[in-house]
Amino acid sequence: MEVIIAPDYETMSSLAADIVEELVRSQPAAVLGLATGSTPIGLYQELARRHREAGLSFEEVTSFNLDEYVGLTPDHDQSYHYFMNENLFQHIDLPLENAHVPSGMSDDHEAFCGSYEQAIAQAGGIDLQVLGIGGDGHIAFNEPGSSLKSRTRLKTLTNETVEDNSRFFESIDDVPRYAITMGVGTILETRHCLMLANGEKKADVVAQAIEGPVSAMITASALQLHPQATVILDEAAASKLELSEYYKWVFEQKPA
Ligand code: F6R
Repeated sequence: MEVIIAPDYETMSSLAADIVEELVRSQPAAVLGLATGSTPIGLYQELARRHREAGLSFEEVTSFNLDEYVGLTPDHDQSYHYFMNENLFQHIDLPLENAHVPSGMSDDHEAFCGSYEQAIAQAGGIDLQVLGIGGDGHIAFNEPGSSLKSRTRLKTLTNETVEDNSRFFESIDDVPRYAITMGVGTILETRHCLMLANGEKKADVVAQAIEGPVSAMITASALQLHPQATVILDEAAASKLELSEYYKWVFEQKPA
């Protein structure tokens, strides 16, 4: 696992955009895995800027999002469909028919989840998966106790996640209790994982995920098993890491 400590949120977002840009320029038909939440907003803004100002094109890219709330229609302003349109898709040239976000409105969630896995396989698998980390250590909505081999499925959210996400809803009662989420196993099959985290609130869980034991209690720790995982943190999110000086030293030694 490569751990990069950036001085601030803007640099974290820009370094992440460099990784996405390098992939898309060298492989225009790349398959991207995308996340929602507050963490990747800076990355998406930077990609939109590079599209506008530096000719970065997503015309041949296919994307798959990690998750979606059950029961929210795509036009609901708290759905992840809506989030992706607002924060990325309407600012770049990725054809909407190539942009996949799980449906939280299916009549048959199990069948839908199977078809989502199939669509990822048919696209040739995900080249680069963007991830955030939840306060309880989740990646996508793989809450504590999720199997590290889990696949796309319906998941009940923890109370902590419901509380964390209630800041986006009028009342906590409006926060959905279920989500459709890619599994930890699905994420571990992607060719490159790129996890981002910022802010002091994430410092403890980031340290547990990166330097603690691999455990279903912190599903982000499964990234330790991934052959190519990059984690980019701001200083605050990195503040509880034991080896932070070493990670910085490694980055300084990295050939240009
Ligand atoms: C979102 C997702 C979640 C978030 C995590 C962090 O698609 O999969 O795992 O990445 O909950 O959320 P923020 O970035 O809002 O702190």
